[in-house]
Amino acid sequence: MHVIITTAAMQAARRSLNGTTGVVLTMGYLHEGHLSLARRARAENDIVIATIFVNPAQFGPREDLAAYPRDLPRDLSLLEGVGVDIVFAPESPAEIYPDGYQTWIDLSDLPTKLEGAARPGHYRGVATVVAKLFNLTRPTRAYFGQKDAQQCVVIRRMVQDLNFDLDVVVCPTVREANGLAMSSRNTYLTPDERSRAAVIYRALSAAQAAYGQGERSAAVLRRLILDILATEPIVQTEYVSIADANTLDEIEAAIAAPALVSMVARVGKARLIDNVILA
Ligand code: PAJ
Repeated sequence: MHVIITTAAMQAARRSLNGTTGVVLTMGYLHEGHLSLARRARAENDIVIATIFVNPAQFGPREDLAAYPRDLPRDLSLLEGVGVDIVFAPESPAEIYPDGYQTWIDLSDLPTKLEGAARPGHYRGVATVVAKLFNLTRPTRAYFGQKDAQQCVVIRRMVQDLNFDLDVVVCPTVREANGLAMSSRNTYLTPDERSRAAVIYRALSAAQAAYGQGERSAAVLRRLILDILATEPIVQTEYVSIADANTLDEIEAAIAAPALVSMVARVGKARLIDNVILA
């Protein structure tokens, strides 16, 4: 496995590659969720590139940039274990955003919804770094996790709008045995918080089951989720949304599939996101 730490070296390496290329973009502190994307990329491409970069541009001023967990040696050995060929891990933020940097990608509508409304500027930072990493790695296919549902919608839109010549592949959310979606931020949880946070997926699953049995009222399903979440008071719900899975517009009346049920809760020091699709 070849580890690259500068943009110049990444571009030089990319020029010498032939065949199909799958890319997995990450902020590191890898877990099974990330590795599932890398395994899928390995199965579907000649070359697999993973990137590790904690992108300052997608963190708000009061968010966890400084505390975000990092362990590059461990990440590299995990990526080697799943057969990744190249890891691009920029040695510093200045490698990606050098002095004088001033080009940003703003989507006009999607970032006003859901996580974008809760985290102003977040998707501007995500879209910009993802576009840059696409240019540096020029993938045939790029792999993203359904866990970050709005990120997938934003990236798909950007790829279409800016004519990136690649396929976006969205992979299922990988969960702990108790249903909690795997996340690098789960390291902020105590063992007790981790087990109580399982209520998040229980609540989302209950909505999915009710939908499966014919319930179509968004209001009824929202209430069902909130009532289940309320059984664990340390899980502090920030929002529960049932939205059109493509436009992310909130559904006020009856659900016409596919709908994205997404939510955010604070548990101890962690801000946890999760979602399911009703289809
Ligand atoms: P990060 O949170 O490290 O996630 C990297 C990729 O792994 C994303 O596509 C994310 O959706 C996926 N992922 C995370 N947890 C997952 C899980 N439990 N199951 C399946 N996939 C999971 O998302 C980012 O980094 C950044 O925003 C990035 C795209 C790298 C841009 O900076």
